[in-house]
Amino acid sequence: MTMTLQTQSQGVPIVEPQKAIIEVRNAGKIYSVKGRSALTVFENLSYSIPERSFLSIVGPSGCGKSTLLKLVSGLEPASSGEILFKGRKITGPADGMIYVFQQYAKSIFPWRTVIQNIDFGLQSHKRLGRKAARDLCMEYIRLVGLEGYEDYYPYQLSGGMQQRVVIARALICEPAVLLMDEPFSAVDALTRAILQELLLKIWQTIPVTILFVTHDVEEAVFLSTHIISLTKSPARIHEDLDIDLPYPRDQIKTRADDRFNAIRQKLFASIFLQEKGMAPGKV
Ligand SMILES: Nc1ncnc2c1ncn2[C@@H]1O[C@H](COP(=O)(O)OP(=O)(O)OP(=O)(O)O)[C@@H](O)[C@H]1O
Ligand SMILES: [Mg+2]
Repeated sequence: MTMTLQTQSQGVPIVEPQKAIIEVRNAGKIYSVKGRSALTVFENLSYSIPERSFLSIVGPSGCGKSTLLKLVSGLEPASSGEILFKGRKITGPADGMIYVFQQYAKSIFPWRTVIQNIDFGLQSHKRLGRKAARDLCMEYIRLVGLEGYEDYYPYQLSGGMQQRVVIARALICEPAVLLMDEPFSAVDALTRAILQELLLKIWQTIPVTILFVTHDVEEAVFLSTHIISLTKSPARIHEDLDIDLPYPRDQIKTRADDRFNAIRQKLFASIFLQEKGMAPGKV
């Protein structure tokens, strides 16, 4: 458990556990498909996600990363155990949590301009007058670096720009938790690096907790305060790491940092060996 140091008024330091925004308690998920034996994706999974943290979930294809995110979002019910959001049991999609899908092309409205797409997010969140709404949309357009493109339609934008629209549309709802399922996997490597830095800048500006699913160990280490790696199903937590590299992180400097490379290499080796069924070799 991560601890924070606080100072009392008398100047005596006290140690307090960091508040959990999401608590996964003995959660299990079983899928039953007609004519096939039931699939236990995971069982008895427990994890506390500290408020304002950036948690990445890594693991082999099919191990249950997206399923875990769906359970947290309330889109799928848990088969056993429970998941709490701000201390309350999740029973369906909760206010304050937003899910960003991998396939941005499917979630963006092609018939709406950039600003109209972002305004759609705003309208679902709160009612503002026309000018106030436009001003707020422009603020988020600037935040994701799309100033000047507000009246473009999605087909006039690159993939990375479309993903920025989706991120702005999610953030304008002021979520406490952003759930992202491989959000950068469909863009090229350079755009991905730029979007990673952008996401960190946003995360440092806005009080949001991020749960981020990725296949990419390097991406997870670059972004996260915490990483969990899951095993093949039935999945369990194989690694649970705190990444204490300083922020702001920088694509050039952080990736050249010996500690970054040591963590990345050890985590990769641990997952790889575990996958090959060899000695667990934990980080
Ligand atoms: N709605 C569903 N009905 C039945 N089985 C499902 C359903 N959704 C997922 N599964 C199964 O659950 C397991 C975990 O799937 P999930 O999509 O969570 O994996 P993942 O770790 O996200 O994989 P990937 O890295 O390929 O995205 C898979 O075996 C999948 O076939
Ligand atoms: Mg998935």
